[in-house]
Amino acid sequence: MASSGKFLTVAGLSKSFLNAGRTSLVLDGIDLDLEFRDCVSIVGPSGCGKTTLLLAIAGLIDPTGGTITFRGDRISGPQHRIALVLQHYGLFPWKRVGDNITLGARLQRITLSGEKLASVKKELDIEGLDHFYPAQLSGGQRQRVALARALLLNPVMLLLDEPFAAIDTVTRERLQNSLLSVFARRKFSFIIVTHNIEEAVFLGRRIIVLGNAQNGIAAVMDNPDMGNSDYRNDPVFFQRTTELRNILEKLE
Ligand SMILES: Nc1ncnc2c1ncn2[C@@H]1O[C@H](COP(=O)(O)OP(=O)(O)OP(=O)(O)O)[C@@H](O)[C@H]1O
Ligand SMILES: [Mg+2]
Repeated sequence: MASSGKFLTVAGLSKSFLNAGRTSLVLDGIDLDLEFRDCVSIVGPSGCGKTTLLLAIAGLIDPTGGTITFRGDRISGPQHRIALVLQHYGLFPWKRVGDNITLGARLQRITLSGEKLASVKKELDIEGLDHFYPAQLSGGQRQRVALARALLLNPVMLLLDEPFAAIDTVTRERLQNSLLSVFARRKFSFIIVTHNIEEAVFLGRRIIVLGNAQNGIAAVMDNPDMGNSDYRNDPVFFQRTTELRNILEKLE
């Protein structure tokens, strides 16, 4: 399966929105292939359509044109093996952490064993937080709770929309490391949207740059050397971040 190239295929995707009687084209001619257990970063200026693209892949909005095929089937609605972590955690403030973590699985009628729940909490270092409300947690803890909730859905595809924004650099790098180690242990692919150049290079085997001007993919950068936490100290990492910065500067 890993080499089939048919895990996720986005072909000629376009999306326009109707706002106050006017149609605005947000995405146009987006092509993207993702293999099983692959990871891609998406970067681009605010408003260029990154969240829209993730929502379309999650089956939560209908494309205006083009197709999205997931494991051989055309996506036409929410997919239970695709989990989405939203831009602002998506936690319910009135529910305790314990309920927030299990909510998605309960909605999808996935049976959770105590053992499974305990192992995900351990993996993400959020044991002992069940009785807190999200407002009582730090940003990093909230983010890990949101990630735990997504992982409990047994996703084969994880979509992450700026998951580590608004978190201090050290915590952020720890969370990036956690994501990579969970990724190495479990069987899924992920797409991460980020505004952070280092994060994009640290987490994506390919980096896709969306542009505002043409509503499409402005550049694709291969990044085969990523994959372990030492990569940040590798001269190649520095080179790729510089290259990506140059691409982004030319866009704006
Ligand atoms: N449901 C909607 N109805 C109308 N317009 C929308 C809708 N969703 C998004 N848009 C518009 O589409 C464009 C792209 O939005 P999107 O949220 O995908 O951008 P983004 O790249 O994720 O931006 P950011 O980096 O700020 O999160 C914006 O101009 C936005 O106003
Ligand atoms: Mg967005």
